[in-house]
Amino acid sequence: MQDLIKAAMVARKKSHAPYSKFYVGAAMRDEQGRIHGGANMENAAYPQGWCAECSAISHLVMAGGTQIKEVAVLGNGDALCTPCGGCRQKIREFAKGDVKIHCCTEAGDLIQTFTLEQLLPASFGPENLQ
Ligand code: THU
Repeated sequence: MQDLIKAAMVARKKSHAPYSKFYVGAAMRDEQGRIHGGANMENAAYPQGWCAECSAISHLVMAGGTQIKEVAVLGNGDALCTPCGGCRQKIREFAKGDVKIHCCTEAGDLIQTFTLEQLLPASFGPENLQ
């Protein structure tokens, strides 16, 4: 878990959040054990920004990953930074309900670990369309 948290901290340094000044880093482990980081990217047309989790998912998929096996997320300070509702659904696309999501402080200390099922219960996913 520590390698994942470290990667989220490194990714957070790349956050582009001049408007909210809420800097988020995320890291995701794929089915090959590889780690993919991402940060939130805001822009002057505020609603067009995207979350750290989106960046990390993009990196995972572009690297050839197909499954999210573990996630770490951290924002500013010591406050709990869980993935937003939209990101929970985006993670769901590539993750099973038992996937662990570690929410950490900016300094990398674990605050709480959730499963995706806890954060997005009774979810709608790719299986529903098969
Ligand atoms: N943010 C994330 O990157 N991930 C989340 O799950 C929560 C929110 C970002 C979006 C925006 O750039 C900033 O945090 C404030 O909402």
